[in-house]
Amino acid sequence: MEWTGLNELRESYLKFFESKGCLRHKSYPLVPQNDNSLLLIVAGMAPLKPYFTGQETPPRTRMTTCQKCIRTGDIENVGKTARHGTYFEMLGNFSFGDYFKKEAIAWAWEYVTQVLKLPKDRLYISVYEDDDEAEKIWHEDAGVPMDHIVRMGKEDNFWEAGTDGPCGPCSEIYFDRGEKYGCGKPDCKVGCDCDRYMEFWNLVFTQFERHEDGTYTPLKQKNIDTGMGLERLASIMQDVDSIFDVDTVKAIRDHVCKIAGCEYGKEYKKDVSIRVITDHIRSVTFMASDGILPSNEGRGYVMRRLLRRAVRHGKLLGINGLFLKDLVKTVVDCNKCEYNELEEKYDYIVKVLTTEEQNFNATIDRGMKILDDLIAQMQKDGKTELDGESCFKLSDTYGFPIDLTREILEEKGMTCDEEGFAECYAKQRETAKNAHAATKYMGADETVFHKIDKDFHTEFIGYDKLEGDSEISFITTDDELIDNAKAGDEVYIVSSQTPFYAESGGQVGDIGTIVTESGKCRVVDTQKVVAGKFAHKAVVEEGEIAVGQKAHFTVDRKTRYAVMRNHSCAHLLQAALRKVLGEHVHQAGQLVDAHRLRFDFSHFNAMTAEEKLKV
Ligand code: ALA
Repeated sequence: MEWTGLNELRESYLKFFESKGCLRHKSYPLVPQNDNSLLLIVAGMAPLKPYFTGQETPPRTRMTTCQKCIRTGDIENVGKTARHGTYFEMLGNFSFGDYFKKEAIAWAWEYVTQVLKLPKDRLYISVYEDDDEAEKIWHEDAGVPMDHIVRMGKEDNFWEAGTDGPCGPCSEIYFDRGEKYGCGKPDCKVGCDCDRYMEFWNLVFTQFERHEDGTYTPLKQKNIDTGMGLERLASIMQDVDSIFDVDTVKAIRDHVCKIAGCEYGKEYKKDVSIRVITDHIRSVTFMASDGILPSNEGRGYVMRRLLRRAVRHGKLLGINGLFLKDLVKTVVDCNKCEYNELEEKYDYIVKVLTTEEQNFNATIDRGMKILDDLIAQMQKDGKTELDGESCFKLSDTYGFPIDLTREILEEKGMTCDEEGFAECYAKQRETAKNAHAATKYMGADETVFHKIDKDFHTEFIGYDKLEGDSEISFITTDDELIDNAKAGDEVYIVSSQTPFYAESGGQVGDIGTIVTESGKCRVVDTQKVVAGKFAHKAVVEEGEIAVGQKAHFTVDRKTRYAVMRNHSCAHLLQAALRKVLGEHVHQAGQLVDAHRLRFDFSHFNAMTAEEKLKV
């Protein structure tokens, strides 16, 4: 085998599978499209799920990609070991009801032994315990000796991700890195926890679909999904210890060392920080280039966490001032041959990362000072556990992330009172929930609507008409179901149908009137309450109303139209914001009523006066 650069390896793999008839497709973005089951793309197959299930027709029945992936399950270990990382690229070849085991195995073997020329005696294969067929193909067709094939159970050789989706038994290829990486135990073999046998290519025979309830059904077609970690493969081809020594990754590592004025491999603690920054800067650069912005939710939070962790480790290395932007340059230079968008979006990426870095620097300086004081006090008092309330206050009031508190304490041989922290957290959530309930249910005790049969639903009929007839099914006070109400009473009316729009998506609930043969009510708000029920908050103005009466529901036309106009304006505003500020602008919330609209969106800077004018 011959030393090969990471970029050249990627190319060699994709070319090889193109020669097998696979359509080569550029990496899909890190943000899953039309798939709520994942925050980020974690495997080459993830963006292709609808092709496996047969839901959508693929551009070709065989494809090959090199997919950007982020996995954060092991984030705590990133840095601590040289094995863990969050960002990686996955080389894949896929068949959607086209080729199956025989070809997938034959081609993998051909690529590994003839193109890469990995020595056969250092290759091992694992197959799923019941999969006689795969074992036979490896042994008889590829010629792998039986003592290089092991059978393993579901844990190792059945691939599935998340709670649902395409999955199946798999077969993995391992490279024996030699005794020096081994644990030395007499029973050390493929599957051992140590670093000697490194799994680098996973061939999944995707035949099943897993459902959320844990059951499996056979897919209409037999598929192939294979995944090989590009960095891992490069570490084999370059005969280096870890992914952090692979050419393109090492370039970033070296740059970190240069900025910090230190050397890699001299001191464990420093190495941890160097690895954290090296890995995380790759993740956040690619996240930014795919339009993710740091925030407090979902993938934005993952990005914020990675970025802040990198910044803090920069501080541990003694780096002063902003440094992420310098590293971005190296990440871009090493990757632009495959990801040309990195170069196009370079200025934008730097802006996103630097804005967050600046904001976090301010937060961290303030939080560190408080934590330092607390630690000094603890040392004085001979304590080693920081009380939960202080941990919580740091995070809740000062925005100092709890994982950073934990890490800093750990570095001092101290801990945080996890139980106390969890208690404070739960208490705060409860308070927030109550406050929320109070506003959402207009001050009413939410449980009153729980007294209504949970299968009772209100049907919204207001998309194309603003009035309609329905029966008054329930009348409630703040805490009781009642049979009737008279002039002057303030109640909630629940019906089986209504043209009244209930507040949602930031659009206020409708107002209007509800009239029966004996009384008239003015509706001042409409809200969705529990389980598909709409409650009209109403004041009885004349006569009385009773459960079971037929009623005529009329939405206040003028107000609703004004609300609708503002709603349309919110869409126009969003379009204008995207035009002026960029495609990264996404709605984060909105409020639309008859008089105004408020549109919340994500952007990394305050808008300038000129930008506002333009919008
Ligand atoms: N989807 C398989 C994996 O991620 C190939 O290992």
